[in-house]
Amino acid sequence: MPKSYLVARRNEFEEGGRKVVSCDGTEIGVFQVGGKLVAWHNECPHRNGPVCQGRIYKRVLEPVDAEGQVRALAFEEGSSNIVCTWHGYEYDLKTGVNQGTDKLKLRPAKIEEKDGNVYVVV
Ligand code: FES
Repeated sequence: MPKSYLVARRNEFEEGGRKVVSCDGTEIGVFQVGGKLVAWHNECPHRNGPVCQGRIYKRVLEPVDAEGQVRALAFEEGSSNIVCTWHGYEYDLKTGVNQGTDKLKLRPAKIEEKDGNVYVVV
């Protein structure tokens, strides 16, 4: 039967912030992205690495100029990717989808907010 676990007060989250909690051994990462909270199981779909503890970046773009060359990198505004600590697979934090293939997707966890507190249900 699913059970609720307290993560933090809602006002403890800021944009780009995260909290990773253990729910009786099941680890869940909660992130604020674009003003909203998202929660993912801390298991990378590649080989179960602790993806929620990875670095967070804007999506890297490689603009191609008129000569077909990439001269500089750019970053997609408003995007937020998390990079798994084990082998570097990247996932869109809002959707959980891998940037290379939509066949790999983070597993979502349910979030509940009540009386100013944030809970995950596992
Ligand atoms: S386990 Fe995450 S990239 Fe391999």
